[in-house]
Amino acid sequence: MAKLFSPITFKDMTLQNRIVMSPMCMYSSINEDGKLTPFHMTHYISRAAGKVGLIILEATAVQTAGRISAQDLGIWNDEHTDGLSDLVTQLHAYGSKAGIQLAHAGRKAQDEEVIYAPSSLAFNDSYKQPSELDKSGINEVIEAFRKAAKRSKDANFDMVEIHAAHGYLINQFLSPLSNKRTDEYGGNRENRFRLLKEIVEATKKEFTGPIFVRISADEYHEDGNKEDDFIFYARQLKELGIDLIDCSTGGVVPARINPYPGYQIKHCETIKHQANIPTGAVGLITSGIQAEEIIQNNRADLIFIGRSLLKNPYWAKEAADELGYPLEAPKQYERGWK
Ligand code: FNR
Repeated sequence: MAKLFSPITFKDMTLQNRIVMSPMCMYSSINEDGKLTPFHMTHYISRAAGKVGLIILEATAVQTAGRISAQDLGIWNDEHTDGLSDLVTQLHAYGSKAGIQLAHAGRKAQDEEVIYAPSSLAFNDSYKQPSELDKSGINEVIEAFRKAAKRSKDANFDMVEIHAAHGYLINQFLSPLSNKRTDEYGGNRENRFRLLKEIVEATKKEFTGPIFVRISADEYHEDGNKEDDFIFYARQLKELGIDLIDCSTGGVVPARINPYPGYQIKHCETIKHQANIPTGAVGLITSGIQAEEIIQNNRADLIFIGRSLLKNPYWAKEAADELGYPLEAPKQYERGWK
């Protein structure tokens, strides 16, 4: 029982359990400098004290033009490394491993004057019309991911996650709904995958630890990528040496989503078995028993928890109690929890 609390290893990173803090933007940098604030430190360190196996920092912009908002965290500059490194040291002190989600918002950047996308199509009426990225702009994006991967390594992160989901730049390239290019980055799925492939290759040059990729495995649109396409991307990512596919959904075009407990797990399970690659399940997983079922039935390898960890930094303890697992989290609180 309690496989949720069994360790798992990816390359040189061993997690104490299968619980991951899902990346969640806090929009809390000040002065538009992309730096961590005391809020970020408290926010992440308290989840490490709560024995989360892996903490993945929120979508962190690799270029200023790739910020969702002016308050996003950033890793576009060497000046970001020291602050991030201090946070990683603290997370390690509590036994958690530390990751960072590397991101570019593309046409979903909201506070920038000029925004970029594979094609000049706005997300909807309330977003700006993006400029189409030319080849040199694409090369700059890839280079920005490479440098961000180098800074992640310098800051001692154990892993990085490439954000290719939720309709941000990489997802915009992957989807036929937002990518109408006629060059080698558009058209068939091999071409639409090219930007992600080149970003993975650039990341691997600098970062030798585990690399995860978050995808949106359902576009909720009949002309979007289909299950077969996501299996194709996952197989390609496996060949490129990616360690885990984190399976989310949606965001590439406006769509109505009907969320229910575990609503994204079916995609995660399909990709895991069809592409033979570890996966992470996310989306309305709220109890220890629900998480345990997913792991025991081999539907996913890791459980990403979002909102439940915002509500309760000690969610892991709650899940352990439910499963009858003796988790010390943290030991200073033990007397109060007896
Ligand atoms: C998110 N989510 C998200 N996803 C992501 O890949 N990068 C991000 O930076 C964010 N930011 C973010 C902020 C906030 C406040 C929320 C609530 C969510 C999505 C998140 O990681 C997760 O996939 C969803 O919240 C679904 O999981 P839960 O919350 O149902 O456990």
